[in-house]
Amino acid sequence: MTPLDLSHSVWEQVYMVAPLTIIGTREPDGTYDLAPKHMAMPLSWKDHYGFVCTPSHATYANARREGCFTVSFPKPDQILLTSLAAGPRCDDDQKPALAAVPTVPATKIDGVLLSDAHLHLECKLEKIIDGFDVNSLIIGRVVAAAVSDDSARYADVDAQEMIAHSPMLAYLHPGRFAKIVQTQAFPYHVGFRR
Ligand SMILES: Cc1cc2nc3c(=O)[nH]c(=O)nc-3n(C[C@H](O)[C@H](O)[C@H](O)COP(=O)(O)O)c2cc1C
Repeated sequence: MTPLDLSHSVWEQVYMVAPLTIIGTREPDGTYDLAPKHMAMPLSWKDHYGFVCTPSHATYANARREGCFTVSFPKPDQILLTSLAAGPRCDDDQKPALAAVPTVPATKIDGVLLSDAHLHLECKLEKIIDGFDVNSLIIGRVVAAAVSDDSARYADVDAQEMIAHSPMLAYLHPGRFAKIVQTQAFPYHVGFRR
């Protein structure tokens, strides 16, 4: 094993598998912001979802002010749209690249989601935990969710075939991504219980 230099971020010295999400929030002028986040995950067995953000990002201020946010999980062929959502802001604080990102309105909260994504979550803000260096954890409760028709789990559909037909996106931080086509069942121990 090679020891890593902790004066630099560990996460910049290795590749790590992460999800890639696009967080949607409402801006003060009534338009909608979208921003990619890979530090994101479910935070309970049931319906809590959280992501790491920094107070200097509009997403943080928007989520805190509006009390809600959306989460879209792009498909591999939506990687360029995902990148556009991290486009820089102009002097007037607008993100012009967002005009090229197709969206649909949320159903239960005031927000928008990426059109034709793998999965949509609509979240009400539950809590914000500040203080992880310059980062904060923003946690929401899922109040609506929808999955792409070809990506839902059904007991009578073979999982490997379904995923091969509708590949999933993984982000390999920093700066790489993978299209997941081939998967295998996890080898649970006999008697395993959650
Ligand atoms: C692939 C990718 C992953 C990112 N992941 C995160 C993340 O997990 N947390 C974060 O705060 N910013 C992350 N960013 C950076 C923000 O998305 C980016 O700074 C964005 O422009 C912020 O927009 P906002 O100011 O409108 O919130 C990521 C950017 C990219 C391209």
